[in-house]
Amino acid sequence: MKLRDRVIVITGAGGGIGAAFARCASNDGAALVLVGRRRENLERVAQALPSDRVMVCVADVADYSSLVRSREEILAKKGHVDILVNNAAVGYGGRLTDLSAEEIEYSTKVNLVGPMWLTHMFLPLLRERSEAMLVNVVSLSGYLAMPFQSVYAAGKFGLRGFSESMSRELKGSNVHVLTAYPAAIDTEMNTPEMRARCLELGTRVSAIPASTAATQLVRAIERNRSMVVLGSASDRLAPMIARFAPRIVDKLAEKMSPAMSEFARLSTDWARHQRRSLPPRAGSVAKEL
Ligand SMILES: NC(=O)c1ccc[n+]([C@@H]2O[C@H](COP(=O)([O-])OP(=O)(O)OC[C@H]3O[C@@H](n4cnc5c(N)ncnc54)[C@H](OP(=O)(O)O)[C@@H]3O)[C@@H](O)[C@H]2O)c1
Repeated sequence: MKLRDRVIVITGAGGGIGAAFARCASNDGAALVLVGRRRENLERVAQALPSDRVMVCVADVADYSSLVRSREEILAKKGHVDILVNNAAVGYGGRLTDLSAEEIEYSTKVNLVGPMWLTHMFLPLLRERSEAMLVNVVSLSGYLAMPFQSVYAAGKFGLRGFSESMSRELKGSNVHVLTAYPAAIDTEMNTPEMRARCLELGTRVSAIPASTAATQLVRAIERNRSMVVLGSASDRLAPMIARFAPRIVDKLAEKMSPAMSEFARLSTDWARHQRRSLPPRAGSVAKEL
């Protein structure tokens, strides 16, 4: 599917893969609707794009009413949507009991329920187009359940199931479904500092730049692919290893366990910090943390 003149709604567009994708798709002539919790980040991304082809929507994908508002704003301004990219996620990790019950709920809402809500509300609009696409950004954690990632992996395994099921359900219709599996990508969810700590603990994690992941994602959309791993050539083997060599995964998990524990701690600290610093309207629950 060519991106020129398509209207693309992308969640989590204020940074990382989402922002890089917005830049890449905009270069190919698409109109972007940038969705996220932090207006200033969305506006920073929007400023670098042609002003007549970008729109900013402040919404929390865990908050159904803010998504309904966004849908109305998007329809009023754009009239239609060609591609929905469910990309936003939060990286709560660690031992299950290190997380609060509320954090388990919030993580699952952002990483799984939000994409289902958004698909539920945008699918009728996608069905009106002659050609449309639903893109779900999962993770290799949707194939490989590493230790200290239980809540994140649960969300991503769930999103993978949702996406693959939707793909089969919509086969032959005008809506094509693409499931994307990022490996390690250099973003705020996976920073050089986090990777340096992993290395100290015996695990080397090689991350590719967000711009490379975005280019791979755009190429997969243009080629109407159903599945893409965003990462290096060796990352592309991960789904097969998970399926056919679970013993290798067990061994890998054991070796990586100390690094995974530290990675999860840093990632959760970041997710908590981000949530506490939200303006009240975008995250009313954050006040209770
Ligand atoms: N980086 C990696 O190594 C990696 C690996 C595997 C999978 N992934 C997946 O790739 C996707 C993008 O991740 P990333 O690495 O680009 O992470 P990132 O840099 O942390 O970006 C995530 C974006 O999501 C937004 N967001 C978070 N919670 C939200 C919510 N409740 N509602 C709306 N927006 C929300 C954040 O902006 P606000 O805070 O302003 O809302 C942020 O812009 C995610 O699905 C992630 O799970 C990443």
